[in-house]
Parts: sequence; structure tokens; C-alpha cells
Amino acid sequence: MVAPFDTTDFRRTLGYLPTGVTIITTTDPFGRPVGMACNSFVSVSLKPPLVMLCVGNASSTLVDLRQSGGFCANILGSGQGQLCRQFSVKDIDRFAGVRWTDSAVGPELCDAIAWMSCSIDVEHVAGDHVIIIAEVIGLRVNQDESEPLVFHRGMFGSFRETAEPLAAGAPPRPRAGGGTRAPSVAPSTTG
Ligand SMILES: Cc1cc2nc3c(=O)[nH]c(=O)nc-3n(C[C@H](O)[C@H](O)[C@H](O)COP(=O)(O)O)c2cc1C
Repeated sequence: MVAPFDTTDFRRTLGYLPTGVTIITTTDPFGRPVGMACNSFVSVSLKPPLVMLCVGNASSTLVDLRQSGGFCANILGSGQGQLCRQFSVKDIDRFAGVRWTDSAVGPELCDAIAWMSCSIDVEHVAGDHVIIIAEVIGLRVNQDESEPLVFHRGMFGSFRETAEPLAAGAPPRPRAGGGTRAPSVAPSTTG
């Protein structure tokens, strides 16, 4: 399986791995909200609770992330493909028409399905991207909406269960609007 490939082949093949989608938000030095679509957000460690994301080294959001030292990872729901697109377009007001509330680390988009407040720990240069590792200092889930947005081969979709839960005896997954979800944990750093 060792054969020459180009960037297009690389991107296309990576696209076969479905991911969730986040909007990473923070504030610029003037206190204005900034944010970018990001599907490289993943978990790193449970104790301490660490996450990571990869940001292109030409990204303007990277400058603001470095300056602010923190961000909110807004996990998008299945109906938010258009919102994701909006947060990947340059030179527009990405927050136009978006409901959000302020937090200590960055805007929380009201219609996200979960939020994580993160404090940047360390960064590593990796090719044309920067790996940012951050500690999760607060989190909260949306009681009314649970279906995630899924990104796969350049398309947006939603999650469909096709097999038994991973953990034997695990309770059924709560449905959107259902009331069986465990209580959320309020972000410790947000107002
Ligand atoms: C579904 C999706 C996922 C993306 N994931 C990332 C990512 O993980 N890292 C990244 O640097 N850019 C990612 N992008 C691209 C950025 O959102 C886009 O380049 C944006 O313009 C960066 O904006 P900025 O230069 O204002 O920071 C993604 C775009 C989309 C549509």
C-alpha cells in the first residue's frame, strides 16, 4: 500500500473517516467574538481532562486563540451544517444571525448540543498546522438536543445507530427532547 499520492488523494481518503464538528470560539483583543469550524477536535486524556485540535498555521483564529489563551468548543447538532459552513467562510461576519452568550473563554452558541470551556495548555507545530492541547475547565450539555452533526466525505449528515451499545447493559441513549440525560455540569468559569 506504498504508492505516490497527492494532497487531493490525502484529503479524499481522510474524508472516509466521519467526524463530529465543532465551532471553536474565542474573543479578539477588542473583545469581539471570533470562531472557526473545526472537525479535528478530539479527546486526549481523562485525568487531567485534555482535548486537542489542529489549526492551520495561516488561520486568523489561531492568532486570537494564542492571545486569549482559551476557547469554547461548541459541538454542533445535526441541523447545523449551514452554521458550520458560515464559520468556515472568510471575510464575513460569522456571527450574523447566530444566537450566543458570553463566557469567560469564548462565545457559547445557543443551539449547540454541548459546550466545553478550555484553557490552552501547550501547542506543537505539525506541518502546516499547529496542534493545540487544552484543559477542559467546564462543560455543559444541551438537554433539548442530542443528535450530532456528522461530517463525511465533504457532506453533512446525522448519526444513526445500527448496532448494540458498546457497553453491555448500557441504558438506551436519550433521544432529542427526552428527559433521561444525566444533569449537566455548569461551566466553572462562565457567568
Ligand atoms: C467541516 C469543517 C471542518 C474544519 N476543520 C478544521 C480544522 O480542524 N482545522 C482548521 O484549521 N480548519 C478547519 N476547517 C477550516 C476552517 O474553518 C477555515 O479554514 C476557516 O476559514 C479558518 O478561518 P480563519 O482563517 O478565520 O481562522 C474546517 C472547515 C470545515 C467546513
